[in-house]
Amino acid sequence: MRHDFISNSPEETFSLGALIGSRLTGGEILLLNGELGAGKTLLTKGIVKGMDPETTTTVVSPSFTLVNLYNARLDIIHVDLYRLDSEEIGNLGLEDFMDTDHVIIVEWAQRACGFFQGTTVDITIDHAGENKREITISTQLPWISDLTNIQWITGVS
Ligand SMILES: Nc1ncnc2c1ncn2[C@@H]1O[C@H](COP(=O)(O)OP(=O)(O)OP(=O)(O)O)[C@@H](O)[C@H]1O
Ligand SMILES: [Mg+2]
Repeated sequence: MRHDFISNSPEETFSLGALIGSRLTGGEILLLNGELGAGKTLLTKGIVKGMDPETTTTVVSPSFTLVNLYNARLDIIHVDLYRLDSEEIGNLGLEDFMDTDHVIIVEWAQRACGFFQGTTVDITIDHAGENKREITISTQLPWISDLTNIQWITGVS
């Protein structure tokens, strides 16, 4: 199922992320796409917040660290593939985290087309104005239909 949301502010994007995070049960791979500054890292902050992270947890862009690990209700792996080629992506060792104890969040996931198999959630963020974003979520997971009822963010389809 696929659903489009309109976010009118960074706060709304964060809140949508937190709702997504609250639904994750382990083993999901979230594939985030969207141009520079679209809001992939901000959405990730919300997702982590929605997974009850340890109080000391700080979500930062993994562009230099390559792989960030956050301890929360489930362990969260956060990667950014922007600067990586397919060999480097293969060398990250992400297979070790593809199990039900982890959730994997991938920024610039399109760089690794076909690499991530399993329970995926595709999320694309498009600029729709200075503070406005169109966020498209596609997944087979059933909770997506619950998100379509939320009031504070506008569903457009
Ligand atoms: N509705 C919105 N949703 C998300 N971000 C927004 C929105 N409106 C404005 N912004 C701003 O856009 C920026 C998004 O930055 P962020 O680092 O999350 O992007 P990114 O997609 O991770 O970029 P990169 O490709 O460089 O990793 C932030 O400065 C945020 O405040
Ligand atoms: Mg980012």
